[in-house]
Amino acid sequence: MSLNRFSLDGRVALVTGAGRGIGRSLAEGFAGAGAKVLVNDLHPEMAAEAADAIRAQGGTAEPLAFDVTDTAAAEDVVARVIAEHDRIDILMNNAGILIRKPVESHDMDDWNRVVGINLSALYGLSRAVTPHMKQKGRGRIINTGSTMSVSSRPGVISYVAAKHGVLGLTRGLAAELGPHGITVNAIGPGYILTEMNKKVLGTDLEQIVIDRTPLARWAAPEELQGAAIFLASDAASFVTGQIIVVDGGMTTNVFLTESVDLGVAS
Ligand SMILES: NC(=O)c1ccc[n+]([C@@H]2O[C@H](COP(=O)([O-])OP(=O)(O)OC[C@H]3O[C@@H](n4cnc5c(N)ncnc54)[C@H](O)[C@@H]3O)[C@@H](O)[C@H]2O)c1
Repeated sequence: MSLNRFSLDGRVALVTGAGRGIGRSLAEGFAGAGAKVLVNDLHPEMAAEAADAIRAQGGTAEPLAFDVTDTAAAEDVVARVIAEHDRIDILMNNAGILIRKPVESHDMDDWNRVVGINLSALYGLSRAVTPHMKQKGRGRIINTGSTMSVSSRPGVISYVAAKHGVLGLTRGLAAELGPHGITVNAIGPGYILTEMNKKVLGTDLEQIVIDRTPLARWAAPEELQGAAIFLASDAASFVTGQIIVVDGGMTTNVFLTESVDLGVAS
């Protein structure tokens, strides 16, 4: 197989929440693979700065600020992009937030906010691109799930529920849109060093993550690029309804790595 099948040359990719962190890195990865990238963020200055950085690296990028939870705005934006660029080949639904609170104080506002951004907005944008992708007879929708799409932990109930929902959305859309040449997949990042996790650094959880992870470290956002580029490319032409978990093995490992006496089993 030619490596050209991983190329995104000539493709237009919309990446949400790409002003920083994982989204920004995915936008850089798509641009590096040849795509024209539309860099979304809630904050216009962050979208502009990220798009500038991609252009400075030789890529093609434009900022596209809007709130992904504003369905009307998202539909308008998608219509404008198609009018201007004639296509959206790749929708990378990445924007997300996390609220850390125990159930007693994790109130309905918290729940609705997290589910709204991390799940409902992905459906809204997917619906907005569907008629266009159907008409083209091809398209790629990729959702940022999490290890919390396939496992759980205390203190982040709305996030766990929303990210499990992302997997359901991914599989349901894949089933419905597959006959139209549209694939729908997810990536499931483990613990990645971004702003989202800055409060955790320096707490016990920083080391617990390392102890639970077979690769024994946190990851950099760039380590998600390969899975996302693969799913966006022709190399993944028969892959749909899947999640690629990129977590250093954490969700496959039950014991704390350091606590296991390997001698006992032999
Ligand atoms: N960092 C991790 O360890 C980790 C692990 C698993 C999954 N994820 C997921 O990866 C995605 C990105 O996380 P991150 O760590 O880069 O977070 P981050 O907080 O660093 O970046 C999130 C970006 O999304 C933008 N955003 C937030 N709300 C938005 C909205 N309503 N509309 C448009 N943009 C909005 C923010 O402005 C920010 O630029 C999220 O879906 C998150 O749940 C992160």
